[in-house]
Amino acid sequence: MNATGKVALVIGGSGGIGKASALAFGRAGAAVVVAARREGAGEAVADAITSAGGRAHYVPTDITRKADVEASVQAAVSTFGRLDYAVNVPGITGAVVPIVECSDENWDAILQTNLTGVFWAMRAEIRQMLAQGGGGAIVNVSSAVGKRSFPGLGPYGATKRAMESLTETAALEYARQGIRVNAIAPGSIDTDTFRGFTNHDPQTIKAMAETYHPLARIGDPDEVAQAVLYLCTAATFTTGATVPVDGGWLFRP
Ligand SMILES: NC(=O)c1ccc[n+]([C@@H]2O[C@H](COP(=O)([O-])OP(=O)(O)OC[C@H]3O[C@@H](n4cnc5c(N)ncnc54)[C@H](O)[C@@H]3O)[C@@H](O)[C@H]2O)c1
Repeated sequence: MNATGKVALVIGGSGGIGKASALAFGRAGAAVVVAARREGAGEAVADAITSAGGRAHYVPTDITRKADVEASVQAAVSTFGRLDYAVNVPGITGAVVPIVECSDENWDAILQTNLTGVFWAMRAEIRQMLAQGGGGAIVNVSSAVGKRSFPGLGPYGATKRAMESLTETAALEYARQGIRVNAIAPGSIDTDTFRGFTNHDPQTIKAMAETYHPLARIGDPDEVAQAVLYLCTAATFTTGATVPVDGGWLFRP
């Protein structure tokens, strides 16, 4: 998969799936804007890309701040001249509690990051792609839990399912301008967020792997990054799709 000459923005690119996606874009030849909150970790991802001979730029971005999100898109344009690919990664599970124990604060925080933040990102990215012409590709990071509801993850699953609807709507609205909008639905992937969800307990991780994934293991962030790269560069007849990268979780009855 070749992204030479393209410009990719990865919001949430400092860790986990976002970091793996930024590095994959760099290896494929894209200039990469790493937009993330944690300066040290974000700079390190950009440095890894430039040290390998690529082009990268870190921009501080909190997806819960509209001005940051819009500035990250502008950073792609001012640094590398345009925006071809955008990946909207940030997502929080929030407190894992049943609905009657879910506070308003928990609900609001999850919606703000997973849905409103991603909406702001998509809107700014599409506006830029329309303004420059020539199309583009956007990938939103959903979850298998967006399709298979999971006890304790009510607000999280609701935001992911809503994000998939937004993905489909954007795909319909901008297809004629050559902008493809897709989502991916990871299963359990070996990241800080997943390990936190399992309380770093090896038995819980093993049980999750074997209960939900026919492949009987959890995934590596780079396996998700390969799907992101595919959707941006090679999947030229795919739009409005949510692609599972889930070890088989979603096809089980
Ligand atoms: N790991 C899994 O098992 C799994 C499964 C399904 C879906 N997902 C989804 O994948 C995405 C990435 O998760 P991950 O597991 O790689 O997590 P992670 O914690 O390893 O990485 C998340 C990244 O998002 C960033 N981030 C979080 N809040 C942010 C904010 N407000 N602004 C900017 N950046 C922010 C973090 O700094 C980090 O770089 C999330 O949307 C998550 O819901 C993960």
